[in-house]
Amino acid sequence: MCGIIGYVGGRDVPSVLLGGLWRLEYRGYDSSGIAVISNSELVVRKVPGKLSELEELIKRKHVSGTIGIGHTRWATHGLPQENNTHPLVDCNEEIALVVNGIIENYLALKDELEAKGHIFRSLTDSEVIVHLIEENRSRGLAEAVKLAVKKLTGNFAFAVISINDRNKLVCARHDAPLICCYNSKEAAVASDISGVISIFDEVIYIPNDSIVVLQKGKCIITNFQGRTIKAPVHQVTIDVQDIDKGRFPHFMLKEIYEQPKVLHSIVSERIAGDGIRLGSELGISDAELKKVSRIVIQACGTSWHAGLIGKYIIEKFARIHTEVDISSEFRYRDAVFDSDTLVMAISQSGETADTIAGLREAKVKFLKALSLVNVLQSSIHRESDGIIEIMAGPEIGVASTKAYTAEIVNLHFLALYLGLLRGFVSRADLAEHLAALEELPGQVEQVIKLDSEIREIAKIFCNSRDFLFLGRGLNYATALEGALKLKEISYINATGYAAGEMKHGPIAMIDNKMPIVCVNPRTSVYEKMLNNIQEAVARKGIPISIVTRGDRRTRGISAYSVSIPECHECVSPVLSVIPLQLLAYHIATLKGLDVDRPRNLAKSVTVE
Ligand code: AGP
Repeated sequence: MCGIIGYVGGRDVPSVLLGGLWRLEYRGYDSSGIAVISNSELVVRKVPGKLSELEELIKRKHVSGTIGIGHTRWATHGLPQENNTHPLVDCNEEIALVVNGIIENYLALKDELEAKGHIFRSLTDSEVIVHLIEENRSRGLAEAVKLAVKKLTGNFAFAVISINDRNKLVCARHDAPLICCYNSKEAAVASDISGVISIFDEVIYIPNDSIVVLQKGKCIITNFQGRTIKAPVHQVTIDVQDIDKGRFPHFMLKEIYEQPKVLHSIVSERIAGDGIRLGSELGISDAELKKVSRIVIQACGTSWHAGLIGKYIIEKFARIHTEVDISSEFRYRDAVFDSDTLVMAISQSGETADTIAGLREAKVKFLKALSLVNVLQSSIHRESDGIIEIMAGPEIGVASTKAYTAEIVNLHFLALYLGLLRGFVSRADLAEHLAALEELPGQVEQVIKLDSEIREIAKIFCNSRDFLFLGRGLNYATALEGALKLKEISYINATGYAAGEMKHGPIAMIDNKMPIVCVNPRTSVYEKMLNNIQEAVARKGIPISIVTRGDRRTRGISAYSVSIPECHECVSPVLSVIPLQLLAYHIATLKGLDVDRPRNLAKSVTVE
């Protein structure tokens, strides 16, 4: 995905645009640029590299004006090189455009436009939009945008300026996120509120399939047919420090350390006396929930791992058959549903294209959709029948940490709620599990205190080429998550595997150079996991075990171990993953890698 921003007003436009791009950089960072209308001329500054290079360029070649747009890119079509960097301009260099999304029919449109004499400078799909607008520029920018969007297939959010409409910022969205803000003196548009948070305290979540014309003190929203739309104005609830690194060198480390506070706030919010409160937007009645006979969870990456844990605990507490699908598989498998199937999307960003598509697939089959989302007013929030807010606060680090443990804890509360509703969870069971959840934030705090011990282990293995992560039961997902964390920020080949499955082939990989992270807290599968660690040792593997404090047996056969507090089996995935988050973080930083901006990645994958 990419980050887009636009501004019109009396502030220093390049500074506003750059400040916003820094806050949107987590959305994509392989190239960036701005365009400003300065003395009736369109001035473009862009670099096929880091935002810091754009900042340097603008310092060297300053530009001033009252209106401009900016873009930070995660390349989909066309390498990160200057000509593919946004803003993209029309043939006469009078119109500039920044886009987030994918135009699926761009090739046909490009052929049509080239046949009419348009000259394309980039290999991007997005450039067709600026030439479509150019086609109708004589009808005014807003009308030209309205005619252009009718021709587009795919998902997009874009902002456009023109020297022929010098005081208007026009933007449009279809299925990709976009917000706007305005007051009597200025107006702005951005991919999400973090881009303009330091300027405005009210925000409009632009409705899907609409066009917005922004001027100082003016905001007109119409649908693609030109009919005016009223959109609610929301208070900005995110604080600036929520999206600042503060005393931490990286967002990822800050967000690892925030987990005790995040989990404490979730537990405090979700426990209502001796009951459970799932939030005001559940959208599905108790009577409907009672009728649910099957749950299908669909998600991607870390959220999919949380879904795997959700399966175990929903089946354990609520005795409801629960399946978990990777969204990109779910959306194409034409799954068999019946009317009392509940589909759940789990998504931190609420903008993951595959998960949105999976949600739509379910809605087409008239199924109720309950989603866990962290970003309110995101596409998944708006398109679900009901949501449970993950409540992790803004997560900026590309590698998800606090959102993951927050997802797991919310799934616990959902499972207990369903179990209570269906009579499978007694008041005594509930009290036991609520106590375990209330104790969890403090226990997470204790594990985070092992940070320097974990860093010492990272120093030993930061040059390993391969890692194996093994787990069983609920902690099979922990093994998968630990491997993903290491892969995505250190680029080391790390495989997460069900420990019981090792003997069916993967055990052949083990040799005396292979570190094997074994997740073995005291659970119902502890003995089985111990046997698997023995099997690895017998092949000279190097076990690094996550163990329950006092477990001398696992420690005795492991080369290295990290002890976590004694805890209820059901919450062990939360405590067990913390050392793996820190291990990945330290290995990546010891390798000198950019932990918050890993290569090839973006925080939310808004394309297929
Ligand atoms: C997790 O560390 C990754 N950044 C990635 O796998 C992520 O979990 C996945 O893209 C899903 O994102 P979502 O939760 O925002 O839908």
